[in-house]
Amino acid sequence: MTASLAICPGSFDPITLGHVDVIERARTLFERVIVAVGYNAAKTSLFDLDMRVELARASCHHIDGVSVEPVSGLLADFCRQQEANAIVKGLRGSADFDDELGMSLMNRKLSGLETVFIMGEPSYNHIASSLVKDVARHGGDVSGFVPEPVARALDGVFGRRA
Ligand code: PNS
Repeated sequence: MTASLAICPGSFDPITLGHVDVIERARTLFERVIVAVGYNAAKTSLFDLDMRVELARASCHHIDGVSVEPVSGLLADFCRQQEANAIVKGLRGSADFDDELGMSLMNRKLSGLETVFIMGEPSYNHIASSLVKDVARHGGDVSGFVPEPVARALDGVFGRRA
């Protein structure tokens, strides 16, 4: 693939080690990757958009060719503006697939772009942003599940290191 750009979209509330692994592997397939931090209307966010972007940037700065941008409108419009070649998402299992199928078909209708799915690393299969937040909320140690800046932010919110 030449001069290729993938968009890795998500709500990233917050970004986890599983997300970072998918982004790193997307970067081996595409020359550039933009991590697009957006709103999922079906979810209530813990962190606001600016914070989710900041945490994603802090977690991806080590990956050459990867940048992080907020998306406040339609993902399909953002992809068109960026002249992206594909959307990339991670899949942990069939529940993820059920969520992703409709979005991938809608995004293809709206933008003409295909969504490429990367299978989540099995050793990260237990990691989901929602579960990580629940562990943090109840005082658990999340350092094995999220990048260090995210662990600090969660500890800040839920008081573990406050
Ligand atoms: O990590 P998530 O929650 O699966 O990410 C979902 C996200 C943010 C990528 C999706 O909700 C999205 O694209 N939101 C932007 C608005 C949009 O384009 N909605 C139509 C999606 S088909």
